[in-house]
Amino acid sequence: MKFFIDTANLAQIQEAHDLGILDGVTTNPSLMAKEGIKGEAAILQHYKSICEIVGDGDVSAEVFSTDFASIIEEGKKLAAIDSNIVVKVPMIKDGVKAIKWFTDNNIRTNCTLVFSAGQAILAAKAGATYVSPFIGRIDDSSWDGVELIAQIAQIYSIQGFKTEILAASIRNALHIVKCAEAGADVCTCPLDSILGLLKHPLTDIGLAKFLEDAKKM
Ligand code: E4P
Repeated sequence: MKFFIDTANLAQIQEAHDLGILDGVTTNPSLMAKEGIKGEAAILQHYKSICEIVGDGDVSAEVFSTDFASIIEEGKKLAAIDSNIVVKVPMIKDGVKAIKWFTDNNIRTNCTLVFSAGQAILAAKAGATYVSPFIGRIDDSSWDGVELIAQIAQIYSIQGFKTEILAASIRNALHIVKCAEAGADVCTCPLDSILGLLKHPLTDIGLAKFLEDAKKM
């Protein structure tokens, strides 16, 4: 399973990259706004900076247009920033049409705001590179997000769809483990959830004892 970090914060992206396990980055308009990025030039420059840190990994950059022609125009500009840019397109009618157009024109896509298996089938039919089910937001609405990952994984496997399942809206380290178990190809996580994987009290207790005994050596 690939690890993406879900942020537009350059320091956090650098920290995850330095850990040596980072395969890519996802962003969205809320995450970009949180970093105070405003205006087209600043947005394009920020994606460029993210691509420079990540090197070979994929970087999802989201369009904020909702009609076909504007999504295509915006997506082309984003894709021109760097070969690692993946154009993130919402699961709406014009979004599906645009994903098909990008697929036919060799531009990779991430279909976002996916909350059902039916939406995941449509994204795969249109040729999306990634499909992003938002598991945390599904859990928040009292449904089971990880179960959706498992269902999509089963459907894609039976049908031979090539679209990669990118588990998004991750809230904690357990979500990452459960998504790996359910067949996600990628997990995009906040830095805290990735670092949460490090934690186990027995590791801390064991290390303290080893360090104490090492003084006797
Ligand atoms: C990633 O692609 C999504 O935009 C993101 O994971 C959404 O997460 P949230 O539900 O925590 O906003």
